[in-house]
Amino acid sequence: MKFGYFDDEHREYVITTPKTPLPWINYLGCNEFFSLISNTCGGYSFYKDAKLLRLTRYRYNDMPYDCNGKYFYIKEGDKVWNPGWKPMQTDLDSYECRHGIGYSRFTGSLNGLKAQVLSFVPVNDTCEISRLTLTNETSVEKTFSVFSYVEWCLWNADDDMKNFQRNLSTGEVEVVGSTIFHKTEYRERRNHYAIYSVNAPITAFDTSRDNFIGAYHSQMNPEAVLNGKLTNSMASGWSPIAAHQLDVTLKAGESKDFIFVLGYVENPENNKWESHNVINKKPANALLAKFDTNEKVDAAFAELNAYWDGLLSKYTVESANDKVNRMVNIWNQYQCMVTFNMSRSASYYESGIGRGMGFRDSCQDLLGFVHLIPDRARQRIIDIASTQFQDGSAYHQYQLLTKKGNSDIGSGFNDDPLWLIAGTSAYIRETGDMTILDQMVPFDNDESVAQPLMEHLKRSFDYIVNHRGPHNLPLIGRADWNDCLNLNCHSTQPGESFQTFGPSEGPVAESVFIGGMFVKYGLEYADLCDLQGKTEEAARARREVEEMRKVLLSDAGWDGKWFVRAYDSYGNKVGSHECEEGQIYIEPQGFCVLAGVGVETGEAKQALDSVKERLDTDYGIMILQPAYTVYHEELGEVSSYPPGYKENAGIFCHNNPWVSIAETVVGRGDRAFEVYRKTCPAYTEEISEIHRTEPYIYCQMVAGRDAKFHGEGKNSWLTGTAAWTFVNISQYILGVYPTHKGLSVDPCIPADFGDFKVTRQFREGTYFIDVKQTGSTQKGVKELTVDGQKVDGHIIPYEKGKKEYHVQVVLG
Ligand code: GLC
Ligand code: GLC
Repeated sequence: MKFGYFDDEHREYVITTPKTPLPWINYLGCNEFFSLISNTCGGYSFYKDAKLLRLTRYRYNDMPYDCNGKYFYIKEGDKVWNPGWKPMQTDLDSYECRHGIGYSRFTGSLNGLKAQVLSFVPVNDTCEISRLTLTNETSVEKTFSVFSYVEWCLWNADDDMKNFQRNLSTGEVEVVGSTIFHKTEYRERRNHYAIYSVNAPITAFDTSRDNFIGAYHSQMNPEAVLNGKLTNSMASGWSPIAAHQLDVTLKAGESKDFIFVLGYVENPENNKWESHNVINKKPANALLAKFDTNEKVDAAFAELNAYWDGLLSKYTVESANDKVNRMVNIWNQYQCMVTFNMSRSASYYESGIGRGMGFRDSCQDLLGFVHLIPDRARQRIIDIASTQFQDGSAYHQYQLLTKKGNSDIGSGFNDDPLWLIAGTSAYIRETGDMTILDQMVPFDNDESVAQPLMEHLKRSFDYIVNHRGPHNLPLIGRADWNDCLNLNCHSTQPGESFQTFGPSEGPVAESVFIGGMFVKYGLEYADLCDLQGKTEEAARARREVEEMRKVLLSDAGWDGKWFVRAYDSYGNKVGSHECEEGQIYIEPQGFCVLAGVGVETGEAKQALDSVKERLDTDYGIMILQPAYTVYHEELGEVSSYPPGYKENAGIFCHNNPWVSIAETVVGRGDRAFEVYRKTCPAYTEEISEIHRTEPYIYCQMVAGRDAKFHGEGKNSWLTGTAAWTFVNISQYILGVYPTHKGLSVDPCIPADFGDFKVTRQFREGTYFIDVKQTGSTQKGVKELTVDGQKVDGHIIPYEKGKKEYHVQVVLG
């Protein structure tokens, strides 16, 4: 069952009922100012950091779902309604929400009055614009009132929900004309304030929540709105809000626009005041002047669309499969950009006050956006590498604002170092920019011990070499990619952190998965050594990789039909047929095979066949089977979840593409695509009533076969799934993969996929790639010509400065 449809021409998902299974959200903002906005106008805004500089208040875990937002109330006679249906939930004559790329549009109508809201954040300004267009579609004059409403957050969103003894006394505002200034804490240590304004004279306003809502009312029936009259209240402590009242008359057929601006403003430390305790409003007025007419708003909106046109034209496909086209050309790349901006901070599942930037998460996100914003990806790599320790290990998380490592969680997640190689290699393959390897980068932010980035990569590599256990496999430390495999921690008391309790590290617990990563990224490291002329180091790295490959294929790593997952701190196998529960895990099957382990000797196909036989479901591949039904102290958090959820046998969408990529490595295009399709939003749209999260973007987890709600998605938007599925479809299935020598074109597609075209910007050139699938060939390039010239193999030789490449590829 669907709750809307894709409008590919406008790059929008059109939601046709407000009663979606869960709030379906969108993100506004490209640089510093961001808003989350749901299909019923819920959500919140922040500047740069969702925890420290939150403009508007949001209540997670609210009921009904999603109650705070940027709302417009319309009162005509006794009827009060909202263009986005919530919060009044008045039955409307029509409702539509269009989530587009960096903007959302809402249209509601009742009794011949149509209200449209266009919300977006301009590319380079620190504000959100909501243009409200009201149209009288009847043949008689209409008079009604419009009320706006936002609730301010007292900046630090964490403190805002906890520190009531202080916060209920700090709220301060000013009001001048149609602009409400939120200036809590400005008098003392802040030099920023927020504004909410409209480009028309207002009848009245409110800034005290109790005056507007009423102490025993809610957003669903605000007292002042029901009374039809705001009270010009000035907040003093308690909960400041911003609400405007506009009294509007529209002739038959007439339409009027009102431009609302929610903005963030900073003043220089020495120019904070206009007069005693009156804030300097110059920058606020300058910001408002930029958007006070329709023409200016139209221009800003056009600039936003041009910005996205630029990004989304870097990789496009035209195939016979509309679902693939829309995911590749629009939504998957859009989600990759959102993970660049948000990392794991603010979604409807991440509260914006929790974890900072993950080391491994950020490196993997980069794989999905490096082709879109290579310069910003470069800076991201340097920021991440700056939190590495001298021994090659790394802070597991860091804060974006300070760029410092987070010592609460510390280091010791032993997969982290290798992800730095993955991200750097992807950046260099994309851009050819080898200078990044020479850039001096500190360890743990200490400039006095800075070393070239290449030295950081060497230490990443050597960290694995130097931390091996009894089977010569990499030690796992606190956990590897699977944050919940806490093999050294042994936590028994509630409240203890699964990841940091107990010894956290030990000499025995090992990870086969990190072994697979070491093969994949160890070889990429060796390639970088070669490019730098370090042939001995390259040879050493390859020898180490070969050693690891042998261990993975020996009885230590190979269980007979699949790869073992790990060894626990007692030296027992995890993810083996010898285990009672958790006999097979997805991660080492996907990663070892995509790294090429066992491809020649048959283990690769066998491992993937075992995945299909034991882990596959209609909704994707589960992380492990059988699910853990009892808590295993020696395994940790993985066994803490009820069977079928999260890391305990849920379908973790993030690692499904590893299996799909692995299938392309062994040349099985049908199966690779089947795996791609099962978690792909454009396909799961059809079962939105089961899947429940947004049908235009990926979620982190879908409940596995053991769960009560098998097939139900959770934790949408901020997940490494975005990057990995884009890497999978664009580089492996469609097969356009950047190498150091040039673009490689080596697709692996289903037998019935048909011919397709890819247009790809790569370095200075645009590549027009035409792929002909002869018969039902799934993989294998028979012929490749570049500008009419035959080329051996499947790599288009890169020519510096060349602007256009016309490429014909024949499979067969
Ligand atoms: C979450 C984490 C990621 C981890 C995964 C599996 O998505 O953000 O770092 O790899 O869970 O545990
Ligand atoms: C929890 C989650 C896991 C996530 C981790 C991040 O363990 O279950 O998915 O990766 O937190 O710290």
